[in-house]
Amino acid sequence: MGFQAYEIYKELSQTRPHLVRILIEIAKLHRKFAHVPIDELSKKIKNVNLDSALHFLVKKKLIKRISQPYVGVYLTPHGNDFLALHWFVRKNYIIAIGDPIGIGKESEVYWCLTPNQEEVALKIHKAGILPFKSGKRYRIYLNTKDKIPDLAESKLAARREAEALKKIKGIVNAPKPIAQYRHFLLMEGIAGVDLVKVKGLNHDDARYLYEIIIENVEKSVKQCHVIHGDLSEFNIILNEEDGNPIIIDWPQWVSNEHPSAWFLLERDLFNICAYFAQKHDVNTLSSKEIREWIESDLLKKPRPSEQARDEFVFEKMLEEMEDTDLDRPFIVEKFDEKSNIDDEMF
Ligand SMILES: Nc1ncnc2c1ncn2[C@@H]1O[C@H](COP(=O)(O)OP(=O)(O)OP(=O)(O)O)[C@@H](O)[C@H]1O
Ligand SMILES: [Mg+2]
Repeated sequence: MGFQAYEIYKELSQTRPHLVRILIEIAKLHRKFAHVPIDELSKKIKNVNLDSALHFLVKKKLIKRISQPYVGVYLTPHGNDFLALHWFVRKNYIIAIGDPIGIGKESEVYWCLTPNQEEVALKIHKAGILPFKSGKRYRIYLNTKDKIPDLAESKLAARREAEALKKIKGIVNAPKPIAQYRHFLLMEGIAGVDLVKVKGLNHDDARYLYEIIIENVEKSVKQCHVIHGDLSEFNIILNEEDGNPIIIDWPQWVSNEHPSAWFLLERDLFNICAYFAQKHDVNTLSSKEIREWIESDLLKKPRPSEQARDEFVFEKMLEEMEDTDLDRPFIVEKFDEKSNIDDEMF
């Protein structure tokens, strides 16, 4: 199995490396152009029949052509997947892609194999975390200078998730991050079942899981200053080895200092309590107890005005990211020190 880009990747990288070079040049030129003029591209690519090369890449659905207002090309989402994949393979992080684990609207997650035969998880972000505001999507390109807005947002989501996983690593039950590049995040693979899909959980086990999850929320907030922001039974995997709950899906996290931290933490705790109380009859914290706990112990500050609830969520998040160069990889663990290819561009 594996996703389509991988099959094409194997074919192209082995037999037609010059085509990979062309895709890389197109990606670089995307920093200046939403649609890359053929004239600009031909300045970079010498000794190749560019026309037939582009024809082939169009046929493989890696790029598309435009003829107005000038003759140009642009990378398709498929082409972007191809390039991110190229980096992970060249850097020796993965040698194969396997079955999909979760395919959703916002991401696709696949099993991958490392050179040490370990199974890891590759999350491909397909959408940003930025909402629509008065009919217009926030368009912040930060330092990417990226002219592909959807890709810029997916990169932002992937980077934020990688940062959260790094901050909580070793403290909170969550997948360990390995590396993030463009819209791809490689992390520890958790063999298990999503909590929401578990059938016939008995009351004692449910009570135990509830307690561990609440303990993990506490550690995340107190020791790491990280609030998940989208916590619910849908973002918890039960590890099949020891039955422990692992919290996943962190791109929308905020720090304790964020103006919406209070409300997001309240919602996270409320979601978990509601699920265990309603589905498994666990005696959980009441809404009042959640509020008191946040105020007196977790964040140690009073509940802010309602206005702070949504108002600043994304502005503040983006402000915090302003100095981040999203075109550079974010590496937590190196697999192969020998690989010395240029970090920024493959
Ligand atoms: N590290 C991991 N190890 C194993 N499985 C994972 C891992 N991360 C995610 N998954 C699986 O992939 C699914 C989707 O992951 P996640 O919740 O992070 O993405 P999402 O943005 O919510 O995607 P969706 O659009 O599908 O809701 C999870 O429900 C889980 O089954
Ligand atoms: Mg999820």
